[in-house]
Formats: sequence, C-alpha cells, structure tokens
Amino acid sequence: MKALITAGGRGTRLRPITYTTNKHLIPLGNKPMIWYAIEKVVAAGISDIGININPEETEIQKTVGDGSRWGAQITYIKQTGGPQGLAHIIKVAEKFLDGDSFLFYLGDNIVLADLKSLIRRFERGKLDCLLALSHVQDPERFGVPVFENGKLVRVDEKPENPASNFAVTGIYVYSPAVMKAVHAIKPSARGELEISDAHTYLLQHGSRVGYQEITGWWKDTGKPFDILEGNSLILDQLTGQDIQGEISPETVIEGTVRIGKGARITGASVLRGPLVVGEQSILHNAYIAPYTSIGNNVSITNAEVDHSIILDGVSINTNKHIVDSIIGNNAQVTDVTLTRPSGHKLIVGSNSSVEI
Ligand code: DAU
Repeated sequence: MKALITAGGRGTRLRPITYTTNKHLIPLGNKPMIWYAIEKVVAAGISDIGININPEETEIQKTVGDGSRWGAQITYIKQTGGPQGLAHIIKVAEKFLDGDSFLFYLGDNIVLADLKSLIRRFERGKLDCLLALSHVQDPERFGVPVFENGKLVRVDEKPENPASNFAVTGIYVYSPAVMKAVHAIKPSARGELEISDAHTYLLQHGSRVGYQEITGWWKDTGKPFDILEGNSLILDQLTGQDIQGEISPETVIEGTVRIGKGARITGASVLRGPLVVGEQSILHNAYIAPYTSIGNNVSITNAEVDHSIILDGVSINTNKHIVDSIIGNNAQVTDVTLTRPSGHKLIVGSNSSVEI
C-alpha cells in the first residue's frame, strides 16, 4: 500500500501566517505539522509516500527531504494548475499510485489514533473506500456522511443543514476504484473537484464503501484557533522533562517542559508545562503558561505567554499577558511605555488580527 499526503492548497484561513509559511510547515510543539502526518503513515507500515505540493513550492521539499529520516521514500507530486480540489490531487497522482491501494492523508489533519486498524478494516472488508469518521460539534465545516435506514448513502460537502453530527475526517483508504470516480465527477459550485462527490459517486456506482469512527482526538487545523488546539493536543502527548539549556536558580519549572540546546532561562521565570522552548531562546522574568510552544532564537522579557505559538526569531518585551496568540517569524511585540510618543504603534500585515 502507498500513501498520498497533501501539502498544497492556499491556506487562506490562516493568513497572514500563510503568506510566508506553507500551513503544513506551521510548527506544533516545535515540529512542522506535516511531520506528524508522515510519522502516522510510517507507523501504519507504509514507506512509499507521495506528497502533493503546489507547483511553485520549495520549502516543503527542504523541510521534509527524501523521507530517509523516517526510513521512507518520498516522491513530490506537483499539482498541475494549482489547487483544484482533493479529488484533483488523486487524478494528478495517478502515475505515482500506479494502480495500488493507498492511504490518502490530508497533511493539515492531526490524529491520535494508530492508522493500522483502519488499513486492517479496509483489507479485511475488501473495500474500495474506507472513510474515517469523527463526531463533531460543527459538521457544517466538513464532509458529512448521510445515512438512510442506517446505511451510508451519500457524503455532503460543507452542507448548510448537516444530516448527521459526523465529519468525514481527512484520512481515507482507497482501492484503485477511486480513480474512476475522480475522473467522472465535475467541479462543484466553488470550482473544486470535491472528494465528497467522489465518495458519493462510489456509493452510487456499486463500490464497497465502509466507514469507521476514529478513536481518540482528531483535528483539522483549518483556522487559527484550530492550530492552537492542535498545538495543545500535541503538547499533551509529551512525557518527561528534557532540559538542555541553562536555567537560573530562581526559575520555577512545573509539569512537562522541553528546553532546547543553548536556551537560557534567566531571572525569576516560571515555566508551567506542557510547553516547549526551542534552541538559543532567551526568557527573562517570563511566565510561560501551559500549552505554549516557543520556537528557536526567541527572546521574551517580562511577558506572560499563555496557550500560544511563538515562531522563530520573535522578540517580546512587555509586561502584558499574551494569550491564544500565534506570532509569526521575527515579529516584535514591545511594551507601549518603552518608546515615545505613547499609543499603540502597529505595523501589521494584511489579514492580521490584533486585540488592543
Ligand atoms: O479535514 C477534513 C475535511 O477536509 C473533510 O471533511 C472535507 O470533506 C474535505 O473537503 C476537506 O475540507 P477542507 O476545507 O478542510 O479542505 P482544505 O481545502 O483545507 O484542504 C485539505 C488539505 O488538502 C490541506 O492539506 C490542503 C490540501 N489541498 C487542498 C486543495 C483544495 C491541496 O493540496 N490541494 C488542493 O487543491
């Protein structure tokens, strides 16, 4: 079995971060999001992996490499013509898939479960398609399965009035029968070849479509708050302290805390895990609250940072409480009293969001 992981698309709901960073490279617990997808696929016993990328992409290849880090082989597949929907990705990958069954994994999904049981269910049931479902509060954001008399009959993409409280997650297993479906369907009203339409096609043309509810948490990291929640879920999995930097005697460390090489925690700082601090970062008189990831070469002085993701090279110097925030590479957050004239001086990129 092969795997096909997505790393293209536009990431519009995560602007401005995605103006400069592909969303699949946004770090969760200081590790690029797509690494979790690769780890899951490899843990399920698959080593022949295709990654779908936008035609102009270069950073994904640099950050992921050839797969040898995971003992896998990675083939990059350019989505000709750019993002045109999930079913389009499968069409474009036809040569790579070469008539094999495959696990299709949306690279912006993170999941706790082991995927082996899904593959086993697919193989034992001799299925053409296995959908992994998850119970959600907001099914209108997802593909939603429609059941009639307990039988799956259709999948509706982002329906206004969802027929069930389940989402079809971004983890699918297919036989080569899916190829016929992705070639047959037409673009939706928003101009995309929808994966849900391919599923409906399979259901209506006699293919064997099964489903299984996913165990443990699953998260689609489509919007900024999802990214923060994803970061928390990943940090919750950390076990054991790993402190490689220098810590002042006045610093208090509680819970699961990881501190990278060359980091320095000075003054009377308090670090309450689960949290991670990257390499060469300097924290002085700072309070870092649970579920925070701080990247490399970050400087934080006096601030309280809570349930947030701080990317590389950020400098924060304020005595304010920063919460539920994502701060992009090399951004600066300074106390208003440190410079004249007073007042909030903002240089904020397009589509940013600031609360003052
Ligand atoms: O996460 C589960 C949901 O994923 C499903 O419930 C929906 O049925 C499915 O359509 C999809 O919805 P999203 O709106 O979340 O899809 P999104 O546009 O975010 O794309 C999902 C992944 O595929 C993401 O890794 C970006 C990538 N992508 C997307 C498109 C449209 C591509 O690589 N190329 C594309 O053309």
